[in-house]
Amino acid sequence: MKALVLSGGSGTRLRPFSYSMPKQLIPIANKPVLQHVLENIKDLGITEVGIIVGDRGPQIQSVLGDGADLGVRITYIPQDLPRGLAQCVSLARPFLGDDDFVMYLGDNMLPEGVERIAEQFRAERPAAQVVVHKVSDPRAFGVAELDENGRVERLVEKPQHPRSDLALIGVYFFTPAIHEAVDAIEPSPRGELEITDAIQWLVSHGAEVKASEYDGYWKDTGRVEDVLECNRKLLDDVSSSNAGEVDAASTLVGQVVVEPGARVINSRIEGPAIIGAGTVVRNSHIGPHTSIGRDCELTDTHIEYSIALDGATVSQVRGLRSSLIGRSASVGPADHNTHHHRLVVGDHTRVEVAA
Ligand code: DAU
Repeated sequence: MKALVLSGGSGTRLRPFSYSMPKQLIPIANKPVLQHVLENIKDLGITEVGIIVGDRGPQIQSVLGDGADLGVRITYIPQDLPRGLAQCVSLARPFLGDDDFVMYLGDNMLPEGVERIAEQFRAERPAAQVVVHKVSDPRAFGVAELDENGRVERLVEKPQHPRSDLALIGVYFFTPAIHEAVDAIEPSPRGELEITDAIQWLVSHGAEVKASEYDGYWKDTGRVEDVLECNRKLLDDVSSSNAGEVDAASTLVGQVVVEPGARVINSRIEGPAIIGAGTVVRNSHIGPHTSIGRDCELTDTHIEYSIALDGATVSQVRGLRSSLIGRSASVGPADHNTHHHRLVVGDHTRVEVAA
């Protein structure tokens, strides 16, 4: 079995971050979402992985390389524009050949893994097997209607009036039967070749399509709020380690990871939290539920439930919460002889100032 990971797309809901990096490289617990995805795929015993990439492909390639570090072999498959999940399958046809495959959306996090579902698919080999999860508002997702045996009767992409609470989440198992379906469908009203329509085509033509419920933690990391929430969840499971330097005036409470070369000086780190390699934390209070990337500098700062990406600098800011601070961004005090705030913020940036 092979894997096809979808990592193209435009990521408009993650602006401004997606202007400079693909959303699939946003770090959760200091590891890009895509790396979490590839680790899950490796756990299924799959090593041949095709990754669909858009115009940010070179960045993804510079982070993941040929996959050897993660124990997989990656083939990059370019897509010129996000023309839909089913178009990705069609572009990947030469890579997939006539093998069964798992299709995994590169911005979806399923930390509990899908090994049980993969085993079921391997044993029963329906034409397709989708993974569903109960959600309170399914309107933003593909929605599945099932019969009493877990067979899919109908699938609708982002319905206004959902007829079930089972959302399709970002993992699909396919036999080569999907290729005929992908070739047969037409673009949807939003102009994309929808995988939901291709699977519906299989159902309508009498093929067996099954659904398995994933009842673990799941997050589509498409928005800043989701990234922070998912980071919180993953940090809850880290175990403490200290490969950096923590001075005698500092306190670490709970699960705290201090990566190599990081320095903690006269500070309190309240876990769960990660301090990235080469980062310096001085006179600050970090955490809980906070990930600080590599080579950051935090001075006289209090930050919790947040993520700072590599190279960020934060000084003299207290009470930072629910924040996502971009790579090499700088947050700090104004020049000492002014009473004005000064902002140099990029397009679609959000700044919320406490009254
Ligand atoms: O998150 C689950 C949902 O994912 C499902 O419930 C929906 O049925 C499914 O259509 C999909 O909906 P989204 O609107 O969230 O898909 P999104 O555009 O975010 O794309 C998902 C991933 O696939 C993302 O990593 C980008 C990548 N992608 C997307 C498109 C449209 C591509 O690589 N190429 C594409 O053409």
